[in-house]
Amino acid sequence: MSNGLRARRVVETLKEYHPPLGGRDGLRLDFNENVDGCSPRVLQILHSISAETLNKYPEREPGERAVASSLGVSSAQVVLTNGVDEAIHLLAETYLEPGDETLIAVPTFSMYEIYALATGSVVRTVQSNEALEFPFAELLRAITPKTRLICVASPNNPTGAIATREQLLALVQAAPQAAVLIDEAYIHFGGESLLDQIGVIDNLFICRTFSKAFGLAGFRLGALLGSVGQLTMLRRVASPYNVNGLALTCLQAALDDREYIAGYVAQVLEGRSRLEEFYHERNIPFWPSQANFVLAYFGSYRQALVAEMRQRGILVRDRNSDPGCAGCVRITLGNRVQTERLLRQLPEALASIGFTPQPRPTLAAKEAL
Ligand SMILES: Cc1ncc(COP(=O)(O)O)c(C=O)c1O
Repeated sequence: MSNGLRARRVVETLKEYHPPLGGRDGLRLDFNENVDGCSPRVLQILHSISAETLNKYPEREPGERAVASSLGVSSAQVVLTNGVDEAIHLLAETYLEPGDETLIAVPTFSMYEIYALATGSVVRTVQSNEALEFPFAELLRAITPKTRLICVASPNNPTGAIATREQLLALVQAAPQAAVLIDEAYIHFGGESLLDQIGVIDNLFICRTFSKAFGLAGFRLGALLGSVGQLTMLRRVASPYNVNGLALTCLQAALDDREYIAGYVAQVLEGRSRLEEFYHERNIPFWPSQANFVLAYFGSYRQALVAEMRQRGILVRDRNSDPGCAGCVRITLGNRVQTERLLRQLPEALASIGFTPQPRPTLAAKEAL
């Protein structure tokens, strides 16, 4: 055997998560980004950035104070991160020993599993039912004394399903030995926040992102909220300069422009109802969503649909390989004009691929395929 450099054994077993980012020209309804843009106030600040913003190391604390004040918590209860991705990474690094269990309900956001596995944790997944609802009872039953991290996105990606506040609280309380992350990346579009429980329940963490409603995915800016004592531990593994100076300089303006967020969210919600109505009228199985996207079932037509929509300048996301999502496509909602364009192109695309709605096979039948 070669005695050259090798990655850790667990890393050798990981697969790179490589989202299909290449060639994303057109209307990007594939990544749940805010495709309307961001607050014009943020752009204005960016246009007048000084050299000093770029040549000095960025200071995170003022940004943490700004986020804390906007969310009504103390700044010691906030850590700003390089997107929610880094918040998840930091939680895994802070709490997981090799062999500890991480619990997630699937389908869900991929990065929980990746960061947990990278620490040597054992990831236990609980499959959602046919309706892709939050599998509360099954998740509760799967908690063991070795469970040290539980991640729940509510609203969830790619299903748009939510967990109720009571369910989330019960989960956090059932596993006091575990860090429980409630990922509120899509909270502007639906669901019930647990923000008021920060500082009340010691093992509760909540993350928020600027990538979705705020339209700032390129900034890579997220916030992790938790109790002061737990975040003191987590800060020990965080890089002091994890959030870049441009994002920090624009943060207050982004938070202040509530009107922009409200206007954009209203357009998304209207678009979501229209898209769900379209699916309903056409008998296309879909999952009612509380987020800025809707997952629907196109069965054997899904690849042709994604390709046809791309031809028409609209990118939508094939979720076929997510557990329980065979044949599914997820479409993000944008502003009113973008929804008009989507609802013009989608029926035409379906007609041109000769689509006829298909009943969705049951999970058990699919497993037997
Ligand atoms: C549930 C969920 N959490 C987090 C993220 C990533 O957030 P960020 O861009 O802040 O890393 C996504 C992105 O799709 C997501 O769906």
